[in-house]
Amino acid sequence: MITTYRTAPDIDVLTSAFPIPGLGFVPINAFVLQGDEPVLVDTGPVVQREEFLDVLRTVIDVADLRWIWLTHTDADHIGALHALLDENADLKVVTTFLGVGAMSLADPLPLDRVYLVNPGQQLVAGGRTLTALRPPTFDNPCTTGFHDGRSGALFSADSFGALLADVPQSAEDLTEAELQEGQALWATLDSPWLHSVDADTFASQLDGIRRLDPSMILSSHLPAASADLTERLLATLAAVPTGPAFAGPDQAALELLLADMTTGAPG
Ligand SMILES: [Fe+2]
Ligand SMILES: [Fe+2]
Repeated sequence: MITTYRTAPDIDVLTSAFPIPGLGFVPINAFVLQGDEPVLVDTGPVVQREEFLDVLRTVIDVADLRWIWLTHTDADHIGALHALLDENADLKVVTTFLGVGAMSLADPLPLDRVYLVNPGQQLVAGGRTLTALRPPTFDNPCTTGFHDGRSGALFSADSFGALLADVPQSAEDLTEAELQEGQALWATLDSPWLHSVDADTFASQLDGIRRLDPSMILSSHLPAASADLTERLLATLAAVPTGPAFAGPDQAALELLLADMTTGAPG
């Protein structure tokens, strides 16, 4: 089920808690930046396309949207993308050259409907300046987050996500252990390459986020996190390259799960 909440005077969150068997829930967030040229950040999961469109209409008239900032082309971000482009002829998709390429393999984006940005470049949407950046972790090479000059929020795409037992509206409502363990697990699962990067080099990238001093971190996969949590979120990521790697359930575990489902035994 997709619900909404407002995390800043002009920023709405559309969120659902997606179950990952045995590991908990990962929040899947999209955002609406209200204003003269409203921006939708991502378009929900493919499996929730219709519901996403219905819920989106409760926070904005789709005809008023001017931009979709597509953080990347994974299935949990592109659900309603083409339906929205079809519905609103004035809507453009902010993405990268690689993003256009990735979409061309499945559901091509018309080139006159895209606006290409690279890290460091800016989009001015009404009175709002969005500065593109590459988040410190990512699972797709076309990933582009941004810093919103108006709110000061960092939109970090998959970076800073967490796997959680329950998904509150604010990351402050998680215990320190829930946030740290959930964030570390997500980072190892979503960015397994972290274990082969130099920890000092990675730490200097995290310093770049620190220097931005975001007012909030708005991840695609974490409840909204205020600036009070930034140092903790950075410290958790900094420890991942030297921490344990993720290994998913193997075939033996799958067969146990299937046997439990067949007998109706609690799993
Ligand atoms: Fe992703
Ligand atoms: Fe994602």
